[in-house]
Amino acid sequence: MATLINEGKAKQLFTTDDPNVIQVHYMNQATALNGKRKEHIDDKGEVNNQIDSLIFEYLNHLGIATHFIKQLSDSDQLVKKMKMVPLEVVVRNYASGSFQRKFDTEYLLKFEEPVQEFYYKSDRLDDPFINDSQIHALKIATPEQLSTMREQVFKINQALIKLFAASGITLVDFKVEFGFDADGNLILGDEISPDSCRLVDAQTHESLDKDVFRKHTGNVMDGYRTVLSRLEATAK
Ligand SMILES: Nc1ncnc2c1ncn2[C@@H]1O[C@H](COP(=O)(O)OP(=O)(O)O)[C@@H](O)[C@H]1O
Ligand SMILES: [Mg+2]
Repeated sequence: MATLINEGKAKQLFTTDDPNVIQVHYMNQATALNGKRKEHIDDKGEVNNQIDSLIFEYLNHLGIATHFIKQLSDSDQLVKKMKMVPLEVVVRNYASGSFQRKFDTEYLLKFEEPVQEFYYKSDRLDDPFINDSQIHALKIATPEQLSTMREQVFKINQALIKLFAASGITLVDFKVEFGFDADGNLILGDEISPDSCRLVDAQTHESLDKDVFRKHTGNVMDGYRTVLSRLEATAK
């Protein structure tokens, strides 16, 4: 029998018959302000699971190691069970969100090179920015592990830029999480979806991601459905 082992703000994790494999269920829920605001959103789990599955299959095909095994149903997938590194690994191609606020830049200022940042994953502390030396002091990861994550996340960025561009979508920024699989490999885990990426229409710059929910600027599912249908159309 499947037992619930972890429930976060977007997903539930269940055991399977294989101790190294877990079932991820995408919930119909959106949160902002690190969980302080929470709402039910019809179909969000299904749409995000389908977007995430399509993206992770693409990354696996490119030879980028990830936790993703297969999509099980509209709302569920099988992944390798991992020991997660408590870091949010962020890459930015254009200025938005906290970067834009912090440095008072123009919206969607294009960076010559992608910007990479780490945040310490803690709802209680509001995911504070953390630098390499703080990461070492807290024994969160070794310098070698940080280099591996940086190298991987830049590869992932290039792959995602290409995938989204083919669908007329610009990848502004995104965050991912890494973990250790049963063999001790440090690989990509968690999810890549409009919850964790800033995506804008390449022509109009209309937001197609969770910013619509964060800023109350419309029906968040319109953008998510646009992302899914465009990715599906391009994948064919
Ligand atoms: N392959 C994996 N193995 C174990 N835990 C994972 C894996 N992928 C993601 N997780 C963890 O699953 C939990 C639930 O995800 P989510 O609902 O997004 O949580 P959160 O609210 O912390 O962002 C998170 O703690 C995330 O780090
Ligand atoms: Mg999450």
